[in-house]
Amino acid sequence: MSSLTGRHILLGITGGIAAYKSAYLCRRLKDKGADVWVSMTKNATHFITPLTMETLSEREVLLEMFPATRYVGTRHIDISDWTELSIVAPATANFIGRYANGLADDMLTTLLISVTSPVMLAPAMNTDMYNHPAVQENLQRLRARGVHMVDPTSGLLACHTVGVGRMAEPETIVAAAELLLEQSGRHDLTGKTILVTAGPTQEAIDPVRVITNRSSGKMGYAIATAAQQRGAHVILISGPTMLPAPAGIELVNVTSAQEMFNAAMARFDTCSAAIGVAAVSDWRVAKPGLHKLAKADGPPELHLEPTPDILAGMGARKRPGQIIIGFALETDPARLDSVTKLRAKNLDLLVANNPTAPGSEFGSDHNDALLIDREGHVDRPGLLTKQDLAHRILDRLASFTNGSK
Ligand code: C5P
Repeated sequence: MSSLTGRHILLGITGGIAAYKSAYLCRRLKDKGADVWVSMTKNATHFITPLTMETLSEREVLLEMFPATRYVGTRHIDISDWTELSIVAPATANFIGRYANGLADDMLTTLLISVTSPVMLAPAMNTDMYNHPAVQENLQRLRARGVHMVDPTSGLLACHTVGVGRMAEPETIVAAAELLLEQSGRHDLTGKTILVTAGPTQEAIDPVRVITNRSSGKMGYAIATAAQQRGAHVILISGPTMLPAPAGIELVNVTSAQEMFNAAMARFDTCSAAIGVAAVSDWRVAKPGLHKLAKADGPPELHLEPTPDILAGMGARKRPGQIIIGFALETDPARLDSVTKLRAKNLDLLVANNPTAPGSEFGSDHNDALLIDREGHVDRPGLLTKQDLAHRILDRLASFTNGSK
């Protein structure tokens, strides 16, 4: 039986050419036994008729907040309470902008600002529109709020160009919805406090210059958000990133490895688990300049010293029952001796990834990683979104804490 059977789905359709695929998407959701309300924006009705969606969903289509004939004041609340999952497909640049900014100026955005259940978007638009910084920023803000994305694919677009922006196929969206309903039904981390480190650190050379790295923080933030959705109290200790603060999470902002170490050590004892995702600088300048080093004095000779190892510090203090998961980032696979590293830091699981592998680059929304446990068993889930990989890692964490290690 599908996890969609008997579930209440709100299907939002916005005004893009991919709206023609939404009819089939609705059909597939119904085939799987879901109960579907459709809400269309005014622009969506230029691409596909409400009659088509009404026939497929077997319900009246939600179009306007204030229909001339049948105004019901709190209808958006009744339907948002009913909704167990909202899927907006296609999600246009305009809709994404309105939703990211919390606007509620039509029926669909009003419904979405009222729902408390998961929301999934399938963006679709021209490649240049998709890559526009405003659209990317809005998508990032929505991800940080826990909105799930079914990313567009590359291919021939309606504007006769080839590039990223094609809406994911209805079958892919249905599969993502099934997975999400399985995951969001789980509150297997309720009662746990999970510490997550994320992002890069910055080590001062002088008051102006720093040593840092290319970590975006996306993986750590995805894990923090997924753990919070699964019921955990999450403490996210983050180095400097461009990411917005995730909702419902205790965020501790730090800059240097030493600050991250201090923040982690002050909290670890009360945590059920710690996940070290941060790309902590391995070295810092032993004596940073008190003033900006003058260019005229020539290139400085920097004497570096190691930073404290945060995971190893927690590993040394680990009580029975506490779980620690680390990440290992190696651009040369031959150099990655994961099991040795896992044992040296007293970890339960090591997630090994390579930012030079195709699809797993720094800043990417995907990751192709290996999950290696203390027995040396290797799980290779393949290229996943960071959200999906976050859930895979948390599945392992949940199995450890439930004693089925
Ligand atoms: O030993 P290596 O740096 O490859 O290990 C990577 C893992 O260790 C990551 O999980 C990272 O967050 C953590 N780490 C740490 N403190 C450091 C360096 C790395 O916790 N100073």
